[in-house]
Parts: sequence; structure tokens; C-alpha cells
Amino acid sequence: MLEKMAGWRRSCYCGEVSAADINKEIRLMGWVQRRRDHGGLIFIDLRDREGLVQLVFNPEKEGAVHAKAHDLRNEFVIAVKGAVQRRPEGTENPNLKTGQVEIAVTEILVLNDSAPLPFMIEDDTDVSEMTRLKYRYLDLRRASLQGKLVLRHKVAMATRNYLSGNGFIEVETPVLTKSTPEGARDYLVPSRLNPGSFYALPQSPQLFKQILMISGFDRYFQIVKCFRDEDLRADRQPEFTQIDAEMSFVDREDVINIMEGLIVSIFKEAGVELKVPFPRMSYAEATGRFGVDNPDVRYGLELKDLTGILSGSGFKVFSEAVAKKGVIKALCVEGGASFSRKDLDDLTEIAVSFGAKGLAWVKITEEGWQSPIAKFLTGPEKDGITAALGAKTGDLLLFAADKAGVANTVLGRLRTNIGGRLGIIPKEGFNFVWVTEFPMFEYDPAEKRYVAVHHPFTAPMDEDMEKLGTDPLSVRAKAYDLVLNGSEIGGGSIRIHRSDVQAKIFEMLGIAREEAEERFGFLLEALKYGTPPHGGIAFGLDRVMAIITGSESIRDCIAFPKTQKATCAMSEAPSPVDQKQLDDIFIRVVKKAQ
Ligand code: AMO
Ligand code: AMP
Repeated sequence: MLEKMAGWRRSCYCGEVSAADINKEIRLMGWVQRRRDHGGLIFIDLRDREGLVQLVFNPEKEGAVHAKAHDLRNEFVIAVKGAVQRRPEGTENPNLKTGQVEIAVTEILVLNDSAPLPFMIEDDTDVSEMTRLKYRYLDLRRASLQGKLVLRHKVAMATRNYLSGNGFIEVETPVLTKSTPEGARDYLVPSRLNPGSFYALPQSPQLFKQILMISGFDRYFQIVKCFRDEDLRADRQPEFTQIDAEMSFVDREDVINIMEGLIVSIFKEAGVELKVPFPRMSYAEATGRFGVDNPDVRYGLELKDLTGILSGSGFKVFSEAVAKKGVIKALCVEGGASFSRKDLDDLTEIAVSFGAKGLAWVKITEEGWQSPIAKFLTGPEKDGITAALGAKTGDLLLFAADKAGVANTVLGRLRTNIGGRLGIIPKEGFNFVWVTEFPMFEYDPAEKRYVAVHHPFTAPMDEDMEKLGTDPLSVRAKAYDLVLNGSEIGGGSIRIHRSDVQAKIFEMLGIAREEAEERFGFLLEALKYGTPPHGGIAFGLDRVMAIITGSESIRDCIAFPKTQKATCAMSEAPSPVDQKQLDDIFIRVVKKAQ
């Protein structure tokens, strides 16, 4: 029999009851976490947002109430009245905040029952993520997930306080927008009132925040949903949240300084004191030493350049790579000589998947160099390699001979993989690094044109301006990323604030004048009316939360995340819609070719 709340008000949350409440009569409401029937006494752990407290039902004292308790099952919703008492000696639970006390229940209301559960509401659950996402409302009852979302709320509050305190104004920008090129595919929304035309969901508020600078808001921020239709990974969601900011009359140092302050306030919410300024590294150094532009600087295993030593090698793979203006780079894996044939095959497969033509390796064993390429190397070459890499017996050496970009990427990916295999990546700690001086452009061989490394609104570095016409690939941008433990948590740049320079960059990106006019005409026009120098940044809030909370995936820090296939396992979005809805928006669905 289900009952009504009968005007009851709870005295406090379950998790808040403490020794200070002993002898007080209180009312609590919550969910039955667990019922233990000891024949006589029944114990129930009652749970709410703030934690658990133990209820006791005594058949001798409260027979009718005890009988009701007997029928309770997991996740029934109840309200109880009773006196707080100290637990008998020896029965305290030091692992529970309320472990000193219990409630001797004298009245109970059963407010709702629950169907048998698909899984237990426990932090250590081994149930599959798909099941957890399908029943997300149950999953979200777990203390660990609730804790992450509560911290996320505190981080959002700290962000608003800090930025507002520093003169930033929160302005909302539209969700139905015109496509902005941020590198990913757009989510499109058909317009009913303009048949054949589409809005794009924003990949970021980039153009709107620049327009707000032109409008004179001076400092803008927003905690904002962004949408990108890209292949998903543990740190990528199709809709995710940015802490987005833009400032006028600033250079890179101003943005970096103020944003370091923001990161400090965010981490303070998690009880972490950070030291600023964070270290800096140029893109060239990051890719040269770590192979990637998001270096995990928590461990060594750095890339070394052997081009000088091996340029004249009898091993054709090496000498030919150098002849083609390539490089020879290597990793020295301490203790890696024990890697099996299969390990080496796995590593080679990874190398090839990132563009390598092969992966030359050397095991340094007690018997000497064990390697398919040892016979091609001279004594002095071997000595040079050993010295350059600091190699010793028991180590594994891996070589990549290729264009610098490929060799770095390949070894950078191997470094991360091997770091994981060897368990040398520290689990504790927060290592920040700003990566600066990104290249403006990279060449896209598929599209046969330059593409912007950050986005097309990023300003070139002043000292590289004259190379725009002659050597575009060597032009560096006023762009910066903040990397935390090897993950890019934010990126931004100083923008182009002159219409003519912006038009020139579009041209260099192979965006024809008419196309630029059609897609960004409003920006080119706006830039003409007194645009202040400006720049900004956006942080990926989900990624920041995942790292602060030590979560494997950003999904754990999002209340209702999408699966790897960009679906919602709970609501089953996306789903087909009625023909009538399609007719209204002039859409005809074509069957996907098999
Ligand atoms: P950018 O594209 O680098 O910059 O995005 C900023 C930050 O957003 C996070 N992020 C994501 N997080 C989860 N899922 C995704 N799919 C995803 N994509 C990006 C990353 C990233 O560093 N408008 C520019 C910012 C600017 O120039 O001010 C922008 O959006 O942590
Ligand atoms: P091969 O002479 O092609 O049999 O290659 C000998 C070894 O060099 C094999 O272990 C290959 O995987 C490796 N190798 C081939 N191309 C490269 C390259 N570009 N960089 C590094 N190693 C390579």
C-alpha cells in the first residue's frame, strides 16, 4: 500500500545526520539502498543525495512499523520518523559519514515501490556501460556519478564567479546558426520556413564572440553547448560544453594570464592548489620531443633525432629517407628488450596505421644487438646511436625514418602506447603545459589545399607575416593550446582584426572570394567597422571534469551522454520521424546504399 507524504517535511538529508543529532527526533526521506533482516531487528540503509544513514526497526517496540519494513525492497521510496541514537559499541561504521549513529524508526510512510532493478546501485558495478546508459536514471543514483556532477556544478559556479569578477559578461549566442568551419562536420537543421535551407548547430560560438568584440562588449564568456559530427572517442562527444571566452585589446600574454587564474579557481573547487604560470612549449618543441601537439609531460620516453648520425647509413631505408629531406627519429624503451614478437608486431601495426612504412627495431641483449637491421649498421653508427639514446642492455630501440611530420606522429603514438603498456604514466598529479606557436596552415593532400590548423580567424605571428606569400607552411599562428596530462583541454588564438587580412587568409585557404562572401560575408563586413584587436580561448569543460575526477571517459562527467555511435541509449535518439514531420520541412529520406 503506497502512502502520501501527509504533510511531512524532512529534518535534513540522510547523509547529514551526525552525532550532534543524538536523542533528537527527525524525519528523513529517501531510497532503500539495502535491507538486512536479522530475524528480529531489520536494518535499512536509507540513501539520498548526501549519503546513507542506517535505520533500525525493532519488532519488540514498534511491531506494525517493523512489519512494514519487512516488505521493503531495494529502491523503494520511504519517509521515516524516529530518534537518532548512538550505535551500540562495536557496530560503528568508520567508512560511513553517518557511521556513528542510527535512527530507531517509530513511523514509516512507503511513498513508492520499485520494480526489480537491472543492476545494483553501487559504485563498484561491473555492469556494461550500455546497460548503465540505458537506465541512466538508475546509474545517476550512484554516489560516484552524483559526486562528479556536483563538482561540475561547483566548477561552473567558480567559472562564472571568476570571469564575472574579472569583467567578463555572459552573453548567450544562437544555437540555430550558419555553419562555422571548426574542422568537424556540422549538424544540420532544416528550416521549415525556408525550404531547402539549413541552419547548422554551432561547432563553437567563434564568430559570434568575435562580433561581440566588434560590438564593444570587451570581455565575453559563456558556458555553452557545441556540436560536432565527428568520430567519437573517450574524450569526444557530439555535443559537449565549452567555457568560451573572448577579450578585446589584448595579446597572447593577457589571455594566458587571465585564463591561468580561471584554471586555478576551477581546481580549487576540487581541493587542488595549482602553481602558475604553467610551463610553455612551442609546437616545434612539443612535436619534436613528444611527437604530438598535446604532450603528456608526466613521463620521459622522449623522441631523439638521429638524422645526423645515420644520414649516410648503409641501411637504405635510413639514407633514402634523409635524401628525401626526411628525418630519422628514435625511442629508447627502457627494459623493452623483453617485448615479445607479438608486442613488436602490435607496435608495427600502430606505426603503420599512423603512416609509417615500417618500424625498425633493435633489442639490446647480453649477446649484443638483436635486430633485422643490425647487419646494415657500422660499429661507429651503433656507438653513435647508443650514445645519443643513452641506450643500455635490456632496452628496445624503435626507429622511424620518414618526413618529420610522419616520424614524429608515429613515434609520439608509440610513446603513448608503450607508456601505457609499461605502466610508467603516473596516475596522480596534474601537469599543465601551454603549447604555442602552432603553424598557421597544414597541407591537405586529399583536398589539395592548405587548411587552417586552428581556424581561419587566427592571426599569423607578426614576424612571419612576410612569409605568407612565399612559404605558407612555415608561418606560425598566434594560437595556443592548454594541455593537461596529455589531453588538449583548451585552445584559442589572437584573431585577425582586419578585413583585408582576413580576406587574404580565406584566399590562401582556397576559399574563393564568392564562397567567402557567401559563408563569411557578414564577418568580412563587420571587420570593416572599427574592430578592436582581440583574442580568446575555449576550454572543454567535459574534458577538464574527466581529468579532475580521474574518469576514463568524459561520458562519466555528463549527465546524459551519447554512445560511441552518437545515440542516446536511454531515449533512443536519433530515431525516424513521421512522414508528416518530414513533409513539413520538405525532406525526403534516401535509403543508405549498402
Ligand atoms: P577548439 O576546437 O580547440 O577551439 O575547442 C576547444 C576545446 O573544446 C574541447 N573539445 C571537445 N570536447 C569534447 N568533445 C568534443 N567533440 C570536443 N571538441 C573540442 C577541447 C578543445 O580544446 N572556437 C575555438 C576556440 C577559440 O579559438 O577561442 C574552438 O572551438 O578541450
Ligand atoms: P625492409 O628492408 O623493408 O625489410 O625493412 C627492414 C626493417 O626496417 C623492417 O623492420 C621494417 O619494418 C623497417 N622499416 C621499413 N621502412 C621504415 C621506415 N620508413 N622507418 C623505420 N623503419 C622502417
